[in-house]
Amino acid sequence: MKKDLISLRDLNKKEIIFLFKKTKELKKLFQKKKVINLLKGRIGALLFEKPSLRTRVTFETALKQLGGDSIYLSPQDVQMGKRESVKDIAQNLSRWVDLIIVRTFSHNITKELKEYSTIPVINALDDYEHPCQALADYYTIWEREKNIEKIKLGFIGDGNNVCHSLMIGAKILEIDMMVATPNGYEPDKEIIEFSKGRVYITNDPKEVVKECDYIYTDVWVSMGQESEKEKRIRDFQGFQINSELLKLAKRDYKIMHCLPAHRGEEITDEVLDGKNSIVLDQAENRLHIQRSLILYLLNLIKLPSSIKK
Ligand code: CP
Ligand code: NVA
Repeated sequence: MKKDLISLRDLNKKEIIFLFKKTKELKKLFQKKKVINLLKGRIGALLFEKPSLRTRVTFETALKQLGGDSIYLSPQDVQMGKRESVKDIAQNLSRWVDLIIVRTFSHNITKELKEYSTIPVINALDDYEHPCQALADYYTIWEREKNIEKIKLGFIGDGNNVCHSLMIGAKILEIDMMVATPNGYEPDKEIIEFSKGRVYITNDPKEVVKECDYIYTDVWVSMGQESEKEKRIRDFQGFQINSELLKLAKRDYKIMHCLPAHRGEEITDEVLDGKNSIVLDQAENRLHIQRSLILYLLNLIKLPSSIKK
């Protein structure tokens, strides 16, 4: 059966930890400029309906560094569901390339692509989840910690795609998490239900800052929500990560952000650029974890037989 990454729920704890270990190994090899050609002759198609810096560059770089290649398809090229149905796009791409990496407005489109493709599909962000981001984020924490299960992750902001994938990851990896959103911007009920017992939800950012080791935020106005900008900025007042709020934080707290940041809205310059910020490690690790992810989904690296799925 083909493997996809539509939701972080597509991976279990053993698979995620296996990917972390592989990523650590490969990261070292690439830092030593070793040549690894496991993807020779393989092509990944990037089907993007929204802009991207990190996701596009890290996927294209990963494919090329591993000896494969990439094709970037912009919204104008494909016009999913308008010029052609999602089903037809999935079936055609499956005859030519080895992997689909999709960034779209709707989780239903991501799922439909998976259903009609005979090749692996990776969700590179939709309105519901951003599983590749959460994988890189948890890898970033795992790299720094002896025991990842001992940390507490706090998310302050919009209970949106990035928050959802982090919550799913917290449940799978057995990490305690707190989420503070304004009233009406809580995560989806189904994700709250899934992560029950691990993730605490509140409308008070101070509660989160006081208790968490890693403090994460994301933009208040996500791609596609530009028309709601004024209302959102009003509704999110009090949720900015700034020096004042961080006076309540633990001594060694770390700041995380998926980026892009809207500086001066959800986070201030001094915090984003400050000594507690690990946002560039997160961004770098997008590349490292995605190399292993591609190899895993294409069955080019396998869970050792001693590790039962
Ligand atoms: N974090 C992230 O997905 O960045 P891009 O939107 O630039 O890809
Ligand atoms: N929530 C943001 C994440 C960007 C990586 C968005 O969807 O625009």
